[in-house]
Amino acid sequence: MMDEDSRVVAGEEEQEDLQDELSLRPQSFSQYIGQKRVKSEMEIYIQAAKKRDEALDHVLLYGPPGLGKTTMAFVIANELGVNLKNTSGPAIERAGDLVALLSDLDPGDVLFIDEIHRLAKPIEEILYSAMEDYYVDIVVGEGSTSHAVHVPLPPFTLIGATTRAGDLSAPLRDRFGIVEHMQYYTIGDLEKIIQRSSEVFSTKIGKEAAHELARRSRGTPRVANRLLKRVRDYAQVKEENKISLATTKYALDQLQVDNEGLDLTDRKILRTIIEAYHGGPVGIRTLAANIGEDTDTIEAVYEPYLLQHKFITMTPRGRVATQKAYLQLGIPLPEES
Ligand SMILES: Nc1ncnc2c1ncn2[C@@H]1O[C@H](COP(=O)(O)OP(=O)(O)OP(=O)(O)O)[C@@H](O)[C@H]1O
Ligand SMILES: [Mg+2]
Repeated sequence: MMDEDSRVVAGEEEQEDLQDELSLRPQSFSQYIGQKRVKSEMEIYIQAAKKRDEALDHVLLYGPPGLGKTTMAFVIANELGVNLKNTSGPAIERAGDLVALLSDLDPGDVLFIDEIHRLAKPIEEILYSAMEDYYVDIVVGEGSTSHAVHVPLPPFTLIGATTRAGDLSAPLRDRFGIVEHMQYYTIGDLEKIIQRSSEVFSTKIGKEAAHELARRSRGTPRVANRLLKRVRDYAQVKEENKISLATTKYALDQLQVDNEGLDLTDRKILRTIIEAYHGGPVGIRTLAANIGEDTDTIEAVYEPYLLQHKFITMTPRGRVATQKAYLQLGIPLPEES
């Protein structure tokens, strides 16, 4: 009974999130805030492909979660004026699934494969000829009646997204003509995203409140939008018609997001390095086992931000907590020995 209830609740929440997700998602470059370099490069490649009346070269988007890779893929297809077929690495189980997807494309269409580092090897190998020369060779039938069939494909653009570019095999990576690294957003860009999202939600947020929220959003639009929703709840209960700085600070403190945007897990990582390993170095597996997160999540989600903001540094023997980390957690620095 308990289980059923919580499932229903979770289901409804997902529904709501999906709705928000769709209304929040920018549709064009003009609505897509930040990532200036990626945007200006892509605009040139798209214009050129359109002028030549060719499919855009294959695009690999990589970077930490929530920075707008999926959004970028949809914007690219929109700007090209083509359809996008959406799938993910783990969703393609059999070669036939991929061939069906590919042969269903119209010329110039985009096939978007999220989590492309999780493609099964035999599927990945089919992609090689598809990407390079727009055909696949598949084997049909079994035993003595089996034979190879050559299937020509329409020219298409593969857009792959991954949080772990290093996990892509070299032959696959080399077949992407365009490789774009998505960066964490500046506070100014996050402020704009927060203002835009609050318009979508029909709420108002003060300039200072938006700035505070942006500062504490880990450089990540998805985090900014999620925190905005929670802060809006607090403001609603307080019957504010414009989200105030005080309410924003209060809500973020309640959510245990600190003044640098670090969340519970970020702080747990730092605390473990400092308290259990005298500040490091500590290896990824040891750290993961200690805090009960998997190594992939720590490496792809948490560490890039902690590194960028210099809470940790990386040495050949593992990660080391910086002075800044000690200060942030209010732990006295160790005596020099
Ligand atoms: N440049 C942007 N401007 C405004 N909103 C954005 C921007 N980029 C992303 N968002 C919003 O942030 C959220 C996360 O974006 P998205 O799903 O595209 O990220 P992602 O990089 O694909 O994440 P993941 O790696 O988890 O798949 C979405 O709600 C999207 O609308
Ligand atoms: Mg995505």
